[in-house]
Amino acid sequence: MRLLTAAVTSLALTLGAQAAVAAPVEIKFSHVVAENTPKGQMAIKFKELVDERLAGKVEVKVFPNSQLFGDNKVLEAMLLGDVQMAAPSLSKFQKYTKKLQIFDLPFLFKDMAAVEKFQNSADGQKLLGSLQKKGLVGLGYLHNGMKQLSASNALKVPSDAAGKKFRIMTSDVLHAQFEAVDAVPLKKPFSEVFTLLQTKAIDGQENTWSNIYSKKFFEVQPFITESNHGVLDYLVVTSAEFWMGLDDGLKAEIKSALDEAIKHGNNIAAEKAESDKQKIIDSKRSEVLSLTDAERSQWVEAMKPVWKKFEDQIGADLIKAAEASNN
Ligand code: LMR
Repeated sequence: MRLLTAAVTSLALTLGAQAAVAAPVEIKFSHVVAENTPKGQMAIKFKELVDERLAGKVEVKVFPNSQLFGDNKVLEAMLLGDVQMAAPSLSKFQKYTKKLQIFDLPFLFKDMAAVEKFQNSADGQKLLGSLQKKGLVGLGYLHNGMKQLSASNALKVPSDAAGKKFRIMTSDVLHAQFEAVDAVPLKKPFSEVFTLLQTKAIDGQENTWSNIYSKKFFEVQPFITESNHGVLDYLVVTSAEFWMGLDDGLKAEIKSALDEAIKHGNNIAAEKAESDKQKIIDSKRSEVLSLTDAERSQWVEAMKPVWKKFEDQIGADLIKAAEASNN
């Protein structure tokens, strides 16, 4: 009997001790692109680093390809605590701040070096906090690259886009950009783009080389114009409620793993853009068109007036500062 009591006591102690061990903090990281992209690779790297350094304390679960939430739902879900991290394109925050619209202005940044310079400047860093009042925390910028125009017809000059339907992200700036060339913009989630193109419900879209390649848009778009007319970059975000609820030590360790993962994503973004462009060319499914200086000037002239429309919302000084990053 005494033996039995001892066994029961020891079992109770073991169970009690197990219950006292805190469950790891769970970070669901939701995104919409393929794993074989700068964002997909960054998320995987983040998980690996956390597994390596914070095993038992933090667990990262990555959900790619809109598996968990589409791009129009993820921020709402984050505020409800259903997902802890995401990295939506900077074009998808206009419900939360108008300031980030700066990144959508057509022909503002001449290349990714200019984008990086602006993001690293005091003005760029300040923008990371522009979501604070809405309960979201910007943890860092992540690169994808410059956008290209794909379509069912060859787009050489703006009039080639007139009357054509283009899928855009949820951005009023991008809406104005396509209206400026008399095209018809339609705000649609990323997960629907391939089918919309395949069924010819729309005529074209704008995106980066890695998205056009990994989501096979090039297989259903006979022409891609290398326009580099805008940037598609990301903001890695979390909710203030989740972030503030972490103890300082853990927060610092998570942030350091994230910074390293972002660096990794940024390092491969440029190389990925080049190699995915080459794979598209090699596939011969889509013809990649380049623009002469004169043709490009026509797009700039048609689209640049969009800046003025959004100057009040974004701030003229901020636009000037971004423009200066081209020098
Ligand atoms: C898009 O919707 O086209 C992009 O924002 C997708 C992404 O996350 O790169």
